[in-house]
Amino acid sequence: MNKRIAVLPGDGIGPEVVGEALALLDVVAELYGHTFHYDYGKIGGHAIDEEGTALPAETVELCGKSDAVLLGAVGGPKWDRGPTHLRPETGLLGLRKALSLYANLRPVKIFPALRDASTLKPEVLEGVDLLIVRELTGGLYFGTPRERRTGPTGLEVVDTLFYTEAEIERILRLGFELARTRRGHLTSVDKANVLESSRVWRETAERLAPEYPDVELTHLLVDNAAMQLVRNPRQFDVLVTENLFGDILSDEAAMISGSIGLLPSGSLGAEGTLGLYEPVHGSAPDIAGQNKANPLATYLSVAMMLRTSLGLPEEADAVERAVACVLEKGVRTGDLAQPGERVWGTREIGAEVRDQLRGGV
Ligand code: NAI
Ligand code: MG
Repeated sequence: MNKRIAVLPGDGIGPEVVGEALALLDVVAELYGHTFHYDYGKIGGHAIDEEGTALPAETVELCGKSDAVLLGAVGGPKWDRGPTHLRPETGLLGLRKALSLYANLRPVKIFPALRDASTLKPEVLEGVDLLIVRELTGGLYFGTPRERRTGPTGLEVVDTLFYTEAEIERILRLGFELARTRRGHLTSVDKANVLESSRVWRETAERLAPEYPDVELTHLLVDNAAMQLVRNPRQFDVLVTENLFGDILSDEAAMISGSIGLLPSGSLGAEGTLGLYEPVHGSAPDIAGQNKANPLATYLSVAMMLRTSLGLPEEADAVERAVACVLEKGVRTGDLAQPGERVWGTREIGAEVRDQLRGGV
C-alpha cells in the first residue's frame, strides 16, 4: 500500500520521538510491503523562529494532501513570554480547526508489565482496554452567547451548551463504528436526567442503534461514569461523549495507566479518514536533546494511525505487540524505571522495539 504521511516533529522531544516513530514505520513498511512517503512540516516554536508563525500555510496544505498526520509536541520556555498569537499552542489549535478534527480518541490499555505504575490496585487494572471518544468541536466550549453582562442583581455570566443533531449523530456514529472494530460495546455518556442536549444525545443514540445490531449500546450518566472509571474500568470498551464530559473523563482515564510517556491519542477529521496522531505528553523541555524521552506513546499513536486512518489493523496489532513484549522484558526509559534499574535511552528502546517487530511477525 502507498500512503502519504505528513510529519510535524515540533519542538523539544518532539523530533526525537517522531524520529524513532518513523524508523519504526520503515520497519512496518519493509515487513508488510508498503511504501510510506513522509512530508515534513513546521509547527510550533521553531516555526515561529523560522517563519514568524506557529502554523505556516504550507503546513496546513501539506496535511490536507496526506492520508494521516503524525505530530510530536510543541512548545517550550523559549516561547512562553511571547505575545499570544506567537505562542506554539496556537499552531496546534489552528491545525485542529483547519482540519475540522471533530473527534478525539484516547485509548487506555494496561500493559501487564506496568501494573505497578498506576495508583490503582493491580487487580482493578487487570485487562483494562478502553477507548474514550470525545466530541471536540461543539458543546460548551464553542457555544454562544458566552459573556459577562449586567442583570438586575449585578453581574451575570453565560456559557452555552450548543449542538446540532447532525454533530451529535456524527460523533455517535463514530463511536458505533469504533466499537464494531473492537469488542462491540458502546457506552454513551450523558447527563440526560438534567440536560436537554443530553436527552437528544440519548434519543439519537437509540435511533442509530438498530443500524449497528452487532454493537451493544449502554447509557451512563456522566457522574456515574466518573465513578465507574476508577471502580471497575474493565467493564468499558468504547465510551462516547460530548466535549466537556470527554475532556474531564479522558484525563481521569489517562491516569489509570500511570505514565504520560505511554499515552497515545488521535483526532479524526470531517474529511473521510484523515486523522492527526500525537502522544498526549508535551515537549518535555527538561529532558529534550538528551536521549531520555520515552518514544512509546508515539509508537502507540502510530499504531492508532495505522489502524484508524491507514486501514492497516494487522500492522497496528504488530506494533502494539512489539511494545508490550519489550516492556515485558523489563526494557524501560527513565520515566518508567524503578530506582536502581537499568535505564534505556530513546534510541536504545527504539532499537529493541524494531528488533521485536522484526522477530515477532
Ligand atoms: P510535558 O508533558 O512536556 O512534561 C511533563 C513531565 O513529563 C516532564 O517532567 C517531562 O520530562 C515528562 N515527560 C513528558 N513526556 C515524556 C516522555 N515521552 N518521556 C519521558 N518523560 C516525559 O508537560 P509540561 O512540562 O507541562 O509542558 C512542557 C511544554 O510542552 C510546554 O511548553 C507545554 O505548553 C507543551 N505542551 C505541549 C503539548 C502538545 O504539543 N500537545 C501538550 C502538553 C504540553
Ligand atoms: Mg484536559
